[in-house]
Amino acid sequence: MHSKEHISHDEYQKTADWLMSQTKHRPQVAIICGSGLGTLADTLKCQDSFAYSDIPGFPQSTVQGHAGRLVFGELKGKTCVCMQGRFHMYEGHSLCKTTFPIRVFKLLGVETLIVTNAAGSLADGFQPGDIMIIKDHINFPGLVGLNPLCGPNDDKFGPRFPAMSGCYDKGLRCLAVEIAKELGVASILQEGVYAMVGGPNFETIAEARLLHRLGVDAVGMSTAPEVVVATHCGLRVFGLSLITNKVVKSYEDTESVNHEGVLEIGRLRSHTVQQLVTELIDRMEIN
Ligand code: 6GU
Repeated sequence: MHSKEHISHDEYQKTADWLMSQTKHRPQVAIICGSGLGTLADTLKCQDSFAYSDIPGFPQSTVQGHAGRLVFGELKGKTCVCMQGRFHMYEGHSLCKTTFPIRVFKLLGVETLIVTNAAGSLADGFQPGDIMIIKDHINFPGLVGLNPLCGPNDDKFGPRFPAMSGCYDKGLRCLAVEIAKELGVASILQEGVYAMVGGPNFETIAEARLLHRLGVDAVGMSTAPEVVVATHCGLRVFGLSLITNKVVKSYEDTESVNHEGVLEIGRLRSHTVQQLVTELIDRMEIN
C-alpha cells in the first residue's frame, strides 16, 4: 500500500507503445469517466477498446460501477481516449499506479484531459443532480505527503516543483458555461472547489463541517492525483463533478449517503454530462 515504488519512463513508454501497436487512433483528448458516467465512451465512433487486464503495465480497477476499459475513438472529429473506470487510492493502489494512465496519455500525444467524478456537496446552494465545473481543488492526501509526484522527479515529464495555480483551464471553463446556457442546463450548472479525501468511508458530520468551513463546495475520493500529474506534464485540464448527494452536516439529519444512490444520480444525469463534454470537445481548440 502507498509504497514508495517508482515507475520508470520506460514502463510508461512500453504501455504507450503497446497501445499504439494495437490501434491506429492517436488521441488528442483523454477523458476519465467517473461513477455512472461511463456511457460517454459508448458514443465514440470507430472504437478500439482494451480491457485494463489486457494492457501491459496497467493497474486493475476493483470498484463496482467502474467497468475497467480504455476506449479509443472519434468524437466530433477529434480523436479521444476514454477511461471507463478509474483507479482510486482507497483501492490500495499506490498513487503512481492511480495516475499511471495520465503519463501514458501524454506519451500517446494527448494534450487535453477531461476528468469527471461523482461528489457530495457541502455548498448550501447545491442540489443532487447539479453539475459542478471544477474551478480548483484541495488535495488533502497531497497536503500531507500522499502525492503521486513524491519520489525522484522525472524531468522528461515535468519540473520538480510544478505550479498548480490555474490547473483547471479558464478558457475551457468559460466555454463550458456558454455551452450549458445553450443546452438549457444553466440552472443545474455550478462552479466550485472540489476536495479530495482518501475514503473509502464517507465523511463524519464533524468532518463535513470542517470541509464546509474550509470553503469546499464538493468532496470526493478521486481526481486530484490525476490532475496533479496531468498539470505536471503540461496537459490542459477540464473537470466536472456530478453532485450525487448532499453531505450530511447536521446531527438532526436522518439521511445518509450510499454508493447505490451515487450511481443512481449518475445514471439520471449521464446524458447531460455526456452532452456537455461532447459539445466542449467539439468546440475546444486543438493545437
Ligand atoms: Cl458524501 N463524500 C465523498 N468523500 N465522496 C463522495 C460523496 C461523499 N458522495 C459521492 N462521492
